[in-house]
Parts: sequence; structure tokens; C-alpha cells
Amino acid sequence: MSKFILILATQILLLAVVASTEDFARTMNQKHVGLHKEEKLTHLRLYWHDSTGGEKPSSVQIKQPVLNSSSLFGSVSMMDDALTTDVLRNSTVVGQAQGIYAGAAQGEIDFLMVMNFVFKTGKYNGSTITILGRNAVLTEVREMPVVGGSGMFRFARGYVEARTKYFDLKSGVATVEYNCYVLH
Ligand SMILES: *[C@@H]1O[C@H](CO)[C@@H](O)[C@H](O)[C@H]1NC(C)=O
Ligand SMILES: *[C@@H]1O[C@H](CO)[C@@H](O)[C@H](O)[C@H]1NC(C)=O
Ligand SMILES: *[C@@H]1O[C@H](CO)[C@@H](O)[C@H](O)[C@H]1NC(C)=O
Repeated sequence: MSKFILILATQILLLAVVASTEDFARTMNQKHVGLHKEEKLTHLRLYWHDSTGGEKPSSVQIKQPVLNSSSLFGSVSMMDDALTTDVLRNSTVVGQAQGIYAGAAQGEIDFLMVMNFVFKTGKYNGSTITILGRNAVLTEVREMPVVGGSGMFRFARGYVEARTKYFDLKSGVATVEYNCYVLH
């Protein structure tokens, strides 16, 4: 009998330890974070404007490539690029693409993109989507994952397709069409 009580007491003690170490986590009703609503798929077509030259560049190289690499391997650039509704730079600005692109390949021009699309107008004002992926810039269509979002885009996932519409090496100006398919 006393042996039984001892085992029981040990088990209660163990349970208490387990419970106390998991006090920081609890299961929630999905309704509290809006997950009871039907998930929707939103398509956004945006134009990304990058300019490395001129008086007010929108992106700056903060780390040079290694060993004069022609593939730009090891380079790191920080961007704050306008996102517009049309291919012309003077079309309506709806937000900014803020983040980093870094030369990630030794044999070809292939960037690691880490960026937030930060919306600044209308119902998406203040909301963001986060894109993290591989951008082989000389390829016609580059697919990159949407790994998350905030505000209107909480719990977002999806992908983007990037297509270069304009590129001028001399002035450092590039315009890229981004078709974003976002489940949120
Ligand atoms: C990089 O290029 C410059 C100019 O072309 C040259 O002087 C230098 O030696 C090169 N450095 C390396 C590490 O190859
Ligand atoms: C926008 O830019 C294009 C070409 O750069 C120009 O032809 C057009 O007149 C501009 N539109 C406005 C509204 O400024
Ligand atoms: C977007 O939201 C910010 C912060 O709430 C506000 O200051 C700004 O006026 C809004 N912009 C537009 C175009 O609604």
C-alpha cells in the first residue's frame, strides 16, 4: 500500500513539473485570431523599381562581392524600392519593397531575396507580406515563396512570379513585375 502511495506521489510530482514548464503555451480558439473566416486568395500585380545610381539611389551595396566575382557572389545590397501599380515609375505608388538582396551563387547571377512588401495605401495600408527566395535575375520568370505577412495578410503563404520589364546597366535602373498569389 505504501509503495502504491509512493508511486502515485511521484507521478503527481512529475505531472506538476511538466505542467509548470509549459505554463507559457496554451491552445486557443482559432476565432480569436480571425481563423474562422474563409481563407482567400489575393492576386497583386506590382512593379518594383530599383535604382542603384543617380543622386538618390533606392538601393545601396553595403558589401562588395568577394574576389571581384562576376556573379556578384558575396555582395549584399539594402533596398527601399517603390512598388507601383504600373510599369512606369511615375505611376501610383502603393508601397515599398524593403529588404536585402545578396549574391548567393558563384557560377551565375543568383540572389537571395529577403524583403517585405510594405503597403501604404487603401485597405492594405500598414500590412505587409514577406518574400524569401532565390532570384536568378537573368531567368525570364523567377518564382519565390511568400513566407508570411502581417495585418490584412496574417498567416499568409503563397508565391510570387518576378519578370524583368526594364534593365539598364549604365544607370542601374531595373523595373520588375511582381505577380503575387497570396492565401490569407
Ligand atoms: C580585383 O580587380 C582589380 C581591378 O581589376 C585588381 O586590381 C585586383 O587585383 C582584383 N582583386 C582580386 C582579389 O582579384
Ligand atoms: C510618366 O513618365 C512617362 C515616361 O517616362 C512620360 O511619358 C509621362 O508623361 C509621365 N506621366 C506623368 C503623369 O508624369
Ligand atoms: C496609412 O496609415 C498611416 C498610419 O496609420 C497614416 O498616417 C497614413 O495617412 C495612411 N495613408 C493612407 C494613404 O491612407
